[in-house]
Amino acid sequence: MFDNKVVLTGVKPTGTPHLGNYLGAIKPAIELGKKVDKHYMFIADYHAINAEKDPLVLNQKLKEIACVYLAFGLDSNHSIFYRQSDIPEIHEITTILYAYTPKGFMNKAHAYKAAVDKNREIGKPDDDGINMGLYTYPTLMATDILAFNSDIVPVGKDQVQHVEIARDIAGAINAHYNKELLHLPTYHLAENVAVVPGIDGRKMSKSYGNVIPLFEDDKAIKKAIFSIKTDSRPMEEPKDPEGILVYEIYKSIATPEQLQEMGDGLRQGKLGYGHIKNMLLDAVINTVKDAREKYDYYMAHFDEVDAMLQQGATKARPVAIETLNRLKEAVFGR
Ligand code: ADP
Ligand code: TRP
Repeated sequence: MFDNKVVLTGVKPTGTPHLGNYLGAIKPAIELGKKVDKHYMFIADYHAINAEKDPLVLNQKLKEIACVYLAFGLDSNHSIFYRQSDIPEIHEITTILYAYTPKGFMNKAHAYKAAVDKNREIGKPDDDGINMGLYTYPTLMATDILAFNSDIVPVGKDQVQHVEIARDIAGAINAHYNKELLHLPTYHLAENVAVVPGIDGRKMSKSYGNVIPLFEDDKAIKKAIFSIKTDSRPMEEPKDPEGILVYEIYKSIATPEQLQEMGDGLRQGKLGYGHIKNMLLDAVINTVKDAREKYDYYMAHFDEVDAMLQQGATKARPVAIETLNRLKEAVFGR
């Protein structure tokens, strides 16, 4: 399906990931990257400065996210792995795209709208605390995509609108100059990626504080798993596994045989909540065991990671320069 396609994945450096991030975003991106001929995988650090103003925190988050992807098997010899901030042409292209970005698109972009809604809820002026980085961020994201002639951008539902904006801006520029200056991208929504529930039953999310962390020590993972909501039915009481939160989370990482074993144990009253939590704990620790070792290695040898990122930028940058030159030629008529 993706043969000969240019696939581009962007990720914001927003702290160490949880099980939901891994299963919903990291794993599919790495797997897809292996399948396609050309995969750009970048860390959107300019996007992160809209919200995070402490350089130490930003740097730490960037390191963490880079090491997480490598730890889970991103192959930097195959995927072009780079930092957005190492490609300065991104900003020249963005300035050109601004001239073709209707302001109305930005008003409608959901990250901005969500920030306005939040302000209204708490009785603050609409634009309180909202900077131009957040407001115009879909245009910067359009550049991230268009600079590299991307065909396909794998995203979660919340990012679909942004890829559509990129496509619209590219379409407007192409139409104006009557030339395919920019390649039109499409989004790809992974269908079989389930939303992993958190330890309170809502979607697992940093903002709900209901996560199973992956890169903390075993104690922290155990603490999260043992706080998963259960009821007070005794072990002997046969239970339908569906709807039991531990089982629901287990579904996302267990093999079919493991899942069957837990399901049978619950149905037959042979497994209590303590048992199934330990089974989930083992599965989580197993999933991340190798990755955690690699993660620790990369965090301790970040110079190696930095070299990979710079090498990625060396590969990516000429493509952005070509796109910029194409645009400048058309825009300035020279
Ligand atoms: P969070 O909700 O913890 O703040 P983000 O919104 O930063 O996470 O999401 C980063 C990526 O992880 C997105 O691609 C998102 O779709 C994916 N993701 C986040 N939470 C889950 C979840 N519970 N199940 C599956 N995927 C998830
Ligand atoms: N906006 C994306 C997010 O919040 C991150 C991102 C920035 C991105 N630029 C991109 C994703 C380009 C895909 C393509 O997750």
